[in-house]
Amino acid sequence: MENKIKDGLKTKFIGHNIVYKEKVDSTNDLAKRNAHLDDGTVFIADTQTKGKGRLGREWDSQKGMGVWLTILLKPQIPPEEASEITLVAGVAACEAIKNGAKIKYPNDIVIGTKKVCGILTECSQSADGDSYIVCGIGINVNQKSFEGELKDKATSLYEVTKQHLKREDIIRKLLEEFEKTYNIFLTDGFEDILQEYKNNCINIGKEVKATYHGKEIFGICTDITPNGEIVIETENETLKINSGEVSIRGIYGYTI
Ligand code: BTN
Repeated sequence: MENKIKDGLKTKFIGHNIVYKEKVDSTNDLAKRNAHLDDGTVFIADTQTKGKGRLGREWDSQKGMGVWLTILLKPQIPPEEASEITLVAGVAACEAIKNGAKIKYPNDIVIGTKKVCGILTECSQSADGDSYIVCGIGINVNQKSFEGELKDKATSLYEVTKQHLKREDIIRKLLEEFEKTYNIFLTDGFEDILQEYKNNCINIGKEVKATYHGKEIFGICTDITPNGEIVIETENETLKINSGEVSIRGIYGYTI
């Protein structure tokens, strides 16, 4: 798998070092256990036994069915800017997935009304006090169908295109798009990526239900700030909520 990905990979540092495992608890946790490795190291697994989603949820990671990977990053940025990397990854994932992929704030990638990809970014510190970021990306590729609560919510690239896509091709494209967007973020800041993020974000101008700190609020999503917060206008106030704290839904269901 490592060689298939590296063959033709056009990046300067992302994915130059690849750690591949058939089975792992979570590639994010594998990356944290190996945070001494180089900036841009990518951890990939065929299956995860404890795949993690945002807000404590589980991430279904069946063997060979998707791209389950984590990028280890060591940027020199203030901690409060780290959450913006998750939005950077969202823009890159959209470009790599194509097929009409859009962003549901903050970083679910959807095709039509269903989720095809999720991103979980975590910040941590090594024993010697250096901080680092692990950016985990899961893409549903070859699942034919979904069961249970995922049935109405999830889709895969196979469901959309009716073609078996090679995971290594998607990974290569994802790493290339990620490096491109991440480099813009590092040199010019998030504002330069914001416009592309907003162009791809399905929530802007729509009614949303936001769940955060245990409460639910309803309003219109009017904007995303240069710091990556979502702006929601309710009947009485304008709220700006940070991506780490919030879950956004449409007022009728997952997306609309
Ligand atoms: C979400 O939408 O809730 C985020 C899902 C993130 C899933 C990916 S799969 C690779 C990496 N390892 C994990 O345990 N989670 C992320």
